[in-house]
Amino acid sequence: LNHKNILGIESSCDDTGVAIVNSDREILANIVISQTKEHALYQGVVPEIAARSHLQNLEKALQSALTESQLTLTKIDAVAATSGPGLIGGVIVGSMFGRTIASVLKKPFIAVNHLEGHALTARLTGDIEYPYLLLLVSGGHSQFIAVQSFSKYKILGQTIDDSVGETFDKVAKMMNLPFPGGPEIEKRAKLGDPHKYILPRPIINQVGCNMSFSGLKTAMRLLIMKLPCLGDQEINDLAASFQYVIGEILSIKMQNSIIMYETFMREVQLKLKTFVISGGVAANNYLQTTLQQQAAKLGYEFVVPPGKLCTDNAAMIAYAGLERLQNNYLSPLNFCPRARWSL
Ligand code: KG4
Ligand code: ZN
Repeated sequence: LNHKNILGIESSCDDTGVAIVNSDREILANIVISQTKEHALYQGVVPEIAARSHLQNLEKALQSALTESQLTLTKIDAVAATSGPGLIGGVIVGSMFGRTIASVLKKPFIAVNHLEGHALTARLTGDIEYPYLLLLVSGGHSQFIAVQSFSKYKILGQTIDDSVGETFDKVAKMMNLPFPGGPEIEKRAKLGDPHKYILPRPIINQVGCNMSFSGLKTAMRLLIMKLPCLGDQEINDLAASFQYVIGEILSIKMQNSIIMYETFMREVQLKLKTFVISGGVAANNYLQTTLQQQAAKLGYEFVVPPGKLCTDNAAMIAYAGLERLQNNYLSPLNFCPRARWSL
């Protein structure tokens, strides 16, 4: 009787997503229409092009999701749409699309924080209980978060400048690799020597788990400028050395974050020691392995959602919507989309 189908909509960056997730945590459809081609020419996401493409793609993505799930719109029990943070044009398009469907169907609307989508993905794809410690690493954010429950988050530390994803993308651009740079660097790094170049680890000895990447980015720029030639082997070695130092920074900060987490959570007598990573950068296999080894050393169970659910998608939005729906956290239809919206 309480079986529910949630329609999720994602449009905060350059991926148009529509998904359907049910209350048994089954992903009935998860459509992502990528805009990589539209933005490739500019080597980065152009906000207006993104918003216009979402407008073009959402209808198609919705039809594909319905076909894939073999459902009709009348079988949808609630609509969850990313309503921030992100590129506001796209967020407005997706949020408006979602609330229109909800209003026509006379079903609840849930404005989902995109970061909550990333934060809860591990609970959609695995049996992860609250609380857990999360490293959210995406294009827009890099944060260590104590996840006490949906809607209850404590940020323990975060980047004080660029996010990890942004650093990957900018460094890739310096080496003339296509956008988005993260997966390209991962591919190149497999062929390179991670110890070829010694790179800085900004604020590595600072207590706590704040991170900084802009000094590393600058070091990469200066190093590339000084190289007599930037051929395949140089790019491979640069990529491997860069990815290696990112792994070191995240491992050390992970250790610090665990100290903070255990202090913060001491009242609840932590029985479960779970460390989750999510967000686009969490799709990186090298970083997964590195952080998994570090978690094992520190006595933590390590969890990462499948790669396709680490990068932007609407299944995670539908799932966050489901948890909110089950707890009666609904949004008014006139919810105002937010370009900035912290957890
Ligand atoms: O979560 P996401 O899809 O979008 C945001 O919410 O920002 O993350 C996108 C970011 C981009 O910076 C992209 O380069 C990075 O995730 N990324 C990766 C990998 N796949 C995506 N970074 C490193 N290695 C990867 N395999
Ligand atoms: Zn994201």
